[in-house]
Amino acid sequence: MIIAVDGPSASGKGTVAKIISEYFQINYLDTGLLYRALAFKTIKNYKTASLKNALKVVNGLTEDDLSDPQLRLQKFGEIASKLAKEKQIRDALLAFQRNFPNQSNGAVLDGRDIGSIVFPEAQIKLFVTAKLSVRALRRQKDMKRMGQNISFKDVEASLKARDHRDINRAIAPLVCLTDATVVDTSNIPFGSLKKEIIEIVEKKYKSLSLGSSE
Ligand code: DC
Repeated sequence: MIIAVDGPSASGKGTVAKIISEYFQINYLDTGLLYRALAFKTIKNYKTASLKNALKVVNGLTEDDLSDPQLRLQKFGEIASKLAKEKQIRDALLAFQRNFPNQSNGAVLDGRDIGSIVFPEAQIKLFVTAKLSVRALRRQKDMKRMGQNISFKDVEASLKARDHRDINRAIAPLVCLTDATVVDTSNIPFGSLKKEIIEIVEKKYKSLSLGSSE
């Protein structure tokens, strides 16, 4: 079973994917971390995150590269979003993502193009969204926890710029698919969100099981 969770930055898709991973006991891959790790490693090794430098790094990424808390810093999200426009980068990261569920009997992955490109055949697809102001407040709090004090205005502007880039890029843009269930996390407490997500997945799973036994 593959579950695809797509949505913009700070929409709550990570929270949704973690709920699914923990409740249904399946592995979770945050694919944004792959792009962030690429940004981080390229800067670390070559100082500038040009396409040429990123291409020297991209094939060597492993799961060990995804655990550094620094990857969450705003600057790596921005560089990741710029590198993510490039076809050669996206193609190079496809195999890593597609091999991930082979480690066990399925997985939940979150990102921008999981349901459209990485796993168009995913049995369950969710599109997680939230109001820009709510997302900006969340991101600002996350950054504060990491010791970065960024004004609400700057966080909002950065999210807007990334949304624009992620939605309008020529390859694998962020889209809300017609076969995805939309989950708006703007005004929902964690407990209710958890209940809603479990219900959606169980209902979908039941309908798939019924369909396959016919
Ligand atoms: O989810 P995130 O904010 O950590 O992702 C960082 C950037 O990586 C995002 O702005 C675009 C890119 N990305 C992508 O293009 N495709 C994915 N599946 C995941 C992330």
